[in-house]
Amino acid sequence: MSDFHDVMRLVDLPEGTAKRVEIDGEAIALVHTRGEVFAVDDTCTHAEVSLAEGEIDGCTLECWLHGSRFDLRTGQPSGPPATRAIAIHPVDVVGVGDDAIIRVAVT
Ligand code: FES
Repeated sequence: MSDFHDVMRLVDLPEGTAKRVEIDGEAIALVHTRGEVFAVDDTCTHAEVSLAEGEIDGCTLECWLHGSRFDLRTGQPSGPPATRAIAIHPVDVVGVGDDAIIRVAVT
């Protein structure tokens, strides 16, 4: 069972951006794209760089170092050099407008 943590306000993560946050000591990349917020492990499974600094393209996040693209819905890489998936985490957005809060559960 995992608990949800209040992480940040939705207005602080504009559409088309990603941010690295720490939750319970874990580095998580929050990504706001296509009207949805995703939370995935921030560390690339290939060479341990921050994915939050990568490029967002639809529902994928591209690692800036060697270009593997991770599906934000499944965590699976679509191609090499990364071969292992990143973990994905449940996200809940509570409230509306400027008061909306992004909540994330890490397992
Ligand atoms: S470090 Fe991410 S693909 Fe190589």
